[in-house]
Amino acid sequence: MNSASTSTPGLTERLAAIDHAHLWHPFTPMRQWREQEPIIIERAEGFVLFDTNGKRYIDGYSSLWCNVHGHRVDVIDEAIRDQLDRVAHATMLGSSTVPAIRLAERLVKLVNRPGARTVLNKVFYSDAGATATELAFKMAAGFHHHNGRTDRDTFVGVRGAYHGDTTGAMSVGYDERMHKPFGSMLFRNAWAIAPDVCSVDEPSAGHQREWPSWDRARRERARDLALADLDRVLGEVGDRAIAVVIEPLMQGAGGIIEQPEGYLAGLAQRARAHRLPLIADEVAVGLCRTGAVLACEHEGVEPDILCLAKGLSGGYLPLAATLCTDMIAEAFEGELSEHRTLYHGHTFTGNPLACAAANASIDLLISDEISANARALSSQMRDSLREALGDHPHVGDVRLRGVLCGIRLVAGRGPWSAFDPDHRVGALVCAAARERGLMIRPLGDVLVLNPAPAMDDATAEEMLRIVCETVSGFDFSRFV
Ligand SMILES: Cc1ncc(COP(=O)(O)O)c(C=O)c1O
Repeated sequence: MNSASTSTPGLTERLAAIDHAHLWHPFTPMRQWREQEPIIIERAEGFVLFDTNGKRYIDGYSSLWCNVHGHRVDVIDEAIRDQLDRVAHATMLGSSTVPAIRLAERLVKLVNRPGARTVLNKVFYSDAGATATELAFKMAAGFHHHNGRTDRDTFVGVRGAYHGDTTGAMSVGYDERMHKPFGSMLFRNAWAIAPDVCSVDEPSAGHQREWPSWDRARRERARDLALADLDRVLGEVGDRAIAVVIEPLMQGAGGIIEQPEGYLAGLAQRARAHRLPLIADEVAVGLCRTGAVLACEHEGVEPDILCLAKGLSGGYLPLAATLCTDMIAEAFEGELSEHRTLYHGHTFTGNPLACAAANASIDLLISDEISANARALSSQMRDSLREALGDHPHVGDVRLRGVLCGIRLVAGRGPWSAFDPDHRVGALVCAAARERGLMIRPLGDVLVLNPAPAMDDATAEEMLRIVCETVSGFDFSRFV
């Protein structure tokens, strides 16, 4: 791997000055951003990013959970170049494109297991996870509307879920801190508690020996409590419910809350029992990240509507897809006078360059190799973290599903207590990891490790070594 510096003297400082003058970064406290050492990525190779000073960083968060096969993968690069020689963009409103058609066929084949009872046969493209979920919500709401049920107005979701930052996605998600200024823009919903293993019982000295997520009895209790609460919510909402919405297996951006065995299947079974469409938001967990093409596969769950984004183009270009059953799509068909058409779309819907990248990426996903690699990587992460951090007094929990991993930092494990959020301990530990050459981002005090599912052993070992050394070497006593 070429790690030679390409730094140009003064370049970082000049770019940083322009960045600070004009750029507004997503999810970034901007005043603090301008006070810290800038990291400006210039290029990448495989699973490694290089900044404008030539410093090398392992991409421990897959460039925000989207990179699948690594950066600059020959077949994906070539597919994009080849498409560029044909057409970079053409609309899908009233016409179609070759790569968009080919991708729809591939996707339907990829996500439907042989013998599936609920076949996801229709594909609607958009550009981001948030637009994929907005579409899913409109498909579900429109489905009822066109079937004469115009009184349904409430989505049933899980507290702490994250479905993106557009208005509908914010409404169905739940984060009081993030959504407070926009309360008047959001529509009503109902949430059941998440099956959060850390919050079901009073944290106790028992945590000293075993991480809560690794304790079977605690997992079962979290699952049963969350499903009982879902029963309560479904009962209360009754006939006003539009759909049940879930991030399968792992509630990601809400804090890496892993769902105990049987929770997802239990939720799906309840959606069926109430005759409600099940919307699976697999934007974060889909496409091999959990060790299977879809996270839903782990529990034999077949959603009626499926949202994919992030890794759909291999993490190369903005592309999302919302898939649904024929039954849902047919509700939007009829005579023009019936006004059933789904009037929704974006200028770049089904962009040919992004679809070409996705076609090449899916060809790499079709064999079980990437999922198998993700499973092996997951075992490597489990073993290393347990060995190095199992007794660490400030590692309160480790949640892991496939390559998606949350390391929860706590002020104390026995009794269990959180750090003061204002100290931003998670952010400080991630900054220390960057110093050592690993790029990760926290969610509060949860360190998120989410490497590309195709990451090789040696890079994964280096990533894990840096994480463990960073946590072990960090002086937590300043914040207790
Ligand atoms: C589960 C889930 N849904 C939706 C989104 C929104 O995706 P995007 O940032 O592409 O809009 C995210 C992003 O992290 C996500 O994790």
